[in-house]
Amino acid sequence: MIISVVSLKGGTGKSTISQNLAVCYAHSGYKVTLVDTDVNGSSLRWSGLRSDDLPRITTLALNDGNALRKNAKLLHADCDIMIIDGTPALSELASTTLLLADIALIPIKPGPLDIWATEKFLEKYENVRTLNDGLSANFVLNQFIYRSNLGQEVVDVLNDMPIPLLKSILHTRVAFSECISGGLGAFEYKDPKAAAESVSLANEVIEILENKLQKK
Ligand SMILES: Nc1ncnc2c1ncn2[C@@H]1O[C@H](COP(=O)(O)OP(=O)(O)OP(=O)(O)O)[C@@H](O)[C@H]1O
Ligand SMILES: [Mg+2]
Repeated sequence: MIISVVSLKGGTGKSTISQNLAVCYAHSGYKVTLVDTDVNGSSLRWSGLRSDDLPRITTLALNDGNALRKNAKLLHADCDIMIIDGTPALSELASTTLLLADIALIPIKPGPLDIWATEKFLEKYENVRTLNDGLSANFVLNQFIYRSNLGQEVVDVLNDMPIPLLKSILHTRVAFSECISGGLGAFEYKDPKAAAESVSLANEVIEILENKLQKK
């Protein structure tokens, strides 16, 4: 199963979500490979900080479209779940990331900029779907702030879009930022609310993937 975390805008939470899903799945006993496609290499660096005592997440960087296509298939044969941390660009690499995926997760930060970027993303997604009809996608609200009007507006806009919004939401919590420097996921850190949110997201995504596998 390949989960690609993508958006055409920077800073939406792709790396945060990729790392947290990887951690939750590794704790559930899955063999997880995390592929960092961003030249900034944030997930790769994060993996270097991870203690050897923690469940293992094989992490590598692939930021060339052809190399990603070829190696992802080989690596996928050797793991249960591959998570691809996407690059924030309308590039060939972003298309390859989508082409390889069983499911694409699109983090959205409440605000007009993310919504505008999403409209462009939809075009790209529809193009890729003509080549990968097994692909499905979901929006994920990230850095959500309680009781903000902006939050409700974004939910309303996303609910009118052709890609479903996941029920699980990641709120703005310092734990999500703090755990990065220890190579941890929120599940391994000291904020039970952040941990619960990451587990809820991981479970919801696995449920969707299992339903898809049953229908195949
Ligand atoms: N739910 C959250 N709560 C608090 N901080 C968050 C949350 N999600 C992400 N962040 C912080 O926001 C910043 C951007 O997040 P992240 O690096 O995951 O985004 P990205 O989409 O991977 O960015 P890029 O496009 O640059 O790769 C980071 O500093 C991260 O720690
Ligand atoms: Mg990133």
